[in-house]
Amino acid sequence: MIEIINLCKSFDGHKVLDNLNLTINSGETTVIIGRSGCGKSVLLKHIIGLMRPDCGQVIIDGRDVTKMDEKELSALRLKFGMLFQGAALFDSMSIYENVGFNLIEHTNAGKAEIDRAVKESLALVGLKGIEEKKPAELSGGMKKRVGLARAICMRPHIMLYDEPTTGIDPIMGDAINDLIVELHNKLKVTAVAVTHDMTSAYKIADRIAMMYNGKIIARGTPDEIKNTKDPVVRQFITGASKGPITEGIDFEHLLNA
Ligand SMILES: Nc1ncnc2c1ncn2[C@@H]1O[C@H](COP(=O)(O)OP(=O)(O)OP(=O)(O)O)[C@@H](O)[C@H]1O
Ligand SMILES: [Mg+2]
Repeated sequence: MIEIINLCKSFDGHKVLDNLNLTINSGETTVIIGRSGCGKSVLLKHIIGLMRPDCGQVIIDGRDVTKMDEKELSALRLKFGMLFQGAALFDSMSIYENVGFNLIEHTNAGKAEIDRAVKESLALVGLKGIEEKKPAELSGGMKKRVGLARAICMRPHIMLYDEPTTGIDPIMGDAINDLIVELHNKLKVTAVAVTHDMTSAYKIADRIAMMYNGKIIARGTPDEIKNTKDPVVRQFITGASKGPITEGIDFEHLLNA
């Protein structure tokens, strides 16, 4: 279980996380939804210890990530698979080296074992035989899938996905959703995904949490969220331009300007 307690983070006086609380149940996929810029990526980076909070705690398996030193964080991160928003591949390395990166750098695994893990991970994301290519030779969607292959290569207990379906076509997006569900069923991972793609959220989530003004303002099963009466959550999930979130913003005026 991951417990996020009273987490605060500001940048230049702008409060991005404002006493945020969230429980992520073990073995479940929790999807965090929220508008662009609301702090979803910042929240993920706190879970994996890439950012330090101004206050608050992130408890994973009974230990506070915010108090760990770099050495403890490195050990912890080996339990995580993270799919970064922009895939974040190493441009100068081959796909093989990218996918096998953690195994090569942080374990004593032999060549045969690494070969097998890289091959299996690439096959799982539907990419075979591209080990020798460089990231620059791939499309955006392929890079995303390579990022996913890298994230699952170490068979992590916890998966973090930052916008897994953004920037790829709907069919590939759906394939990625299926893959996330399959990984969840096969590997029994605890997963946190952030997205503003509601189709993806409904498909992969056991639990959906909505982030707004630095806090989690609603948490429930996909059905509970679909049927919520909260006007802020309703506006977001239905994608309406008029509602409490955009109160005071005159879109017609902006469009005519
Ligand atoms: N390293 C940083 N330094 C300064 N400000 C930052 C930093 N990282 C994030 N921010 C700010 O924090 C806010 C939240 O950013 P974040 O990337 O978490 O948004 P997001 O919800 O992931 O958005 P999107 O859906 O577009 O990815 C933004 O206002 C951003 O400018
Ligand atoms: Mg983001």
